[in-house]
Amino acid sequence: MILAIETSCDDTSVAWVTPEGSVVGMKSATQSTAHARHGGIVPEVASRMHVTALAPLIRGLNRDTGMGLEMATQIAVTTHPGLEGSLVVGRMMAQTLGHLLGCPVVGVNHLVGHLFSSLLSDDPVSFPAVALIISGGHTLLWEWVSYREWHELGGTRDDAAGEAFDKVGRLLGLDYPAGPALEQLAVSGVPGRFQLPIPMMGVPYDMSFSGLKSAVKRWVTPDFSDQDRADMAHAFQTALMESVGLKVSHAVAACHAQSVVVVGGVAANRALRQRLMDSVGVPVVVPPVRYCTDNAAMIGVAAAYMGVA
Ligand code: KG4
Ligand code: ZN
Repeated sequence: MILAIETSCDDTSVAWVTPEGSVVGMKSATQSTAHARHGGIVPEVASRMHVTALAPLIRGLNRDTGMGLEMATQIAVTTHPGLEGSLVVGRMMAQTLGHLLGCPVVGVNHLVGHLFSSLLSDDPVSFPAVALIISGGHTLLWEWVSYREWHELGGTRDDAAGEAFDKVGRLLGLDYPAGPALEQLAVSGVPGRFQLPIPMMGVPYDMSFSGLKSAVKRWVTPDFSDQDRADMAHAFQTALMESVGLKVSHAVAACHAQSVVVVGGVAANRALRQRLMDSVGVPVVVPPVRYCTDNAAMIGVAAAYMGVA
């Protein structure tokens, strides 16, 4: 049994995963309330909170699942990328447990973890696939050839898409992390009220979202009404989705992809999923929301598949 640990950013998460990649149980603690009043993640606060949360979470996970540490045959832990102070807390716990229990510790790249989270969807992934990894820290487009092979096609040159949601949300008076609230606000927005540029139309895979945020900033005034805010949320979300949708469609054609996987926190956005389902021409695979945001199950699943040809 694989005990998986994820502490790369502001979620502390632990999970038991079978060697075949099925999730036995997962327990997570989010720090978003603690960071909300600062308008973003404070790394020092994040690492301290991981230290406090991690051991009780493992104890709680074992209580909930009836598992025990002695059942671990492998410890899987996120090694990079992420906040260094946060990562080190997970690595330290993994190495200590591995040492005490006498089992191997496997390091997992956080982005590869997100990739493998798609295998926790009810829908199958068909290879070759195009993967859109879209979160608060990353926005990347990968060609996913097989369980052992993937290549980067492109990614954002500045802000990640989730970061853009958070920054635009802040301009519209929403709390961090603003993605879900901005999506909700956009539902009552009138299409076409504000014209925003579709970023990076002329390049195949790379993306950019900071200009979009600046464009929103130029429009927003202190006397913005609730309807203005909703209309702007709609315009922003639409422009971002258009840009991302064009890149994904281009990648599907170039890679002859059989499916598209959408993973990372922003994959929770229903409008984005719908935009992709309506336009890419192949099945779109999205994991359940609890596996879209940062979580340990995806780290365990990636470790389980590391040995699969
Ligand atoms: O994957 P994640 O939990 O952490 C990172 O690795 O970044 O993603 C969190 C990001 C935040 O920026 C949050 O605002 C965004 O995902 N997000 C959303 C939605 N739910 C979460 N963005 C847009 N629409 C959503 N429904
Ligand atoms: Zn992530």
